[in-house]
Amino acid sequence: MEKKRIVSSSTVDHQENVLEKSLRPKRLSQYIGQESVKEQLAIYIEAAQIREEALDHVLLFGPPGLGKTTMAFVIANELGVNLRQTSGAAIEKPGDLVAVLNELEAGDVLFIDEIHRLPRVAEELLYSAMEDFYVDIMVGQGESAHPVHFPLPPFTLIGATTRSGMLSEPLRARFGIINHMEYYTDEELKEVVKRSAEIFDVEIEESGAFEIARRSRGTPRIANRLLKRVRDFAQIKSDGVIRQKQADEALTMLQVDCMGLDYVDQKLLKTLIKMYQGGPVGIGTLAVNISEDTETVEDMYEPYLIQVGFIKRTTRGRKATAAAYQHFGYEFKEE
Ligand SMILES: Nc1ncnc2c1ncn2[C@@H]1O[C@H](COP(=O)(O)OP(=O)(O)OP(=O)(O)O)[C@@H](O)[C@H]1O
Ligand SMILES: [Mg+2]
Repeated sequence: MEKKRIVSSSTVDHQENVLEKSLRPKRLSQYIGQESVKEQLAIYIEAAQIREEALDHVLLFGPPGLGKTTMAFVIANELGVNLRQTSGAAIEKPGDLVAVLNELEAGDVLFIDEIHRLPRVAEELLYSAMEDFYVDIMVGQGESAHPVHFPLPPFTLIGATTRSGMLSEPLRARFGIINHMEYYTDEELKEVVKRSAEIFDVEIEESGAFEIARRSRGTPRIANRLLKRVRDFAQIKSDGVIRQKQADEALTMLQVDCMGLDYVDQKLLKTLIKMYQGGPVGIGTLAVNISEDTETVEDMYEPYLIQVGFIKRTTRGRKATAAAYQHFGYEFKEE
């Protein structure tokens, strides 16, 4: 079900992946939002360049679609080095990781997406690679097996993960720079939308950009996707210019409400309010009620609902807030 959601924060298909590449800012100065992350990185990047050293290892945390991959490319660009990309899920055995490490040149960036999914044995290899730029590996089999010391050039590891809780402590401790990506404000997303509209060469008014922005769950990936749909709508139903009216009509047609919630979010909240009197109720129970697995609810739905203040986490489970009741026009009773 996640795949078909227009407001999904994950990429939905290959076509969208291609689109994303064309929309990615290349420089820190073009990267919208995440001000404190950018401010810090600008300093560390400049310092590393002056010292002619590799940048410290960087860990980027944050929900899907907020620009972690984009930031990794921006950093490599600013440093003027190559970026090698892999993902925790793509590395099955230590040899897979060694093959990637082997390609690095001095100062390069190695970007590991979904780093929490690295198998244990590969993760352990990273410890010495990150700390002292070498790996010790076993070569050969049986009787002839012997350890080989394999020096590496100084490099920068950039790890990205959506799940902060799932990263082991020894790995986390080896990152010198740890950054949390935040949801974007409506104003920031408006800038993202305007920038993308310019790249698409579509005319958009402030009001239209803002309407898309405030319905994009604080997530640039969603903003870009909604912009594409609204562009089609404006082209077919009017003169192609995106104003507030076209944005509103298109998004209403797509069943994205004024807060950017879709039918799954709405069902989740209504279940919580109507079936469980607002909670508290366990996340697993909620997930079953909307036919999703717990992990999907925790990763994809809940963070934004918490961010906008519709759901509260308590020790006894999830509770709907007064704001959530109000959003649906239900009466809220204090306990
Ligand atoms: N700060 C930004 N300014 C402009 N566009 C952005 C910004 N951040 C992200 N985007 C756009 O949003 C899309 C998603 O960004 P990106 O792929 O970097 O997210 P991500 O955090 O890596 O997501 P995931 O967790 O799914 O890997 C890209 O198309 C990118 O162009
Ligand atoms: Mg990514």
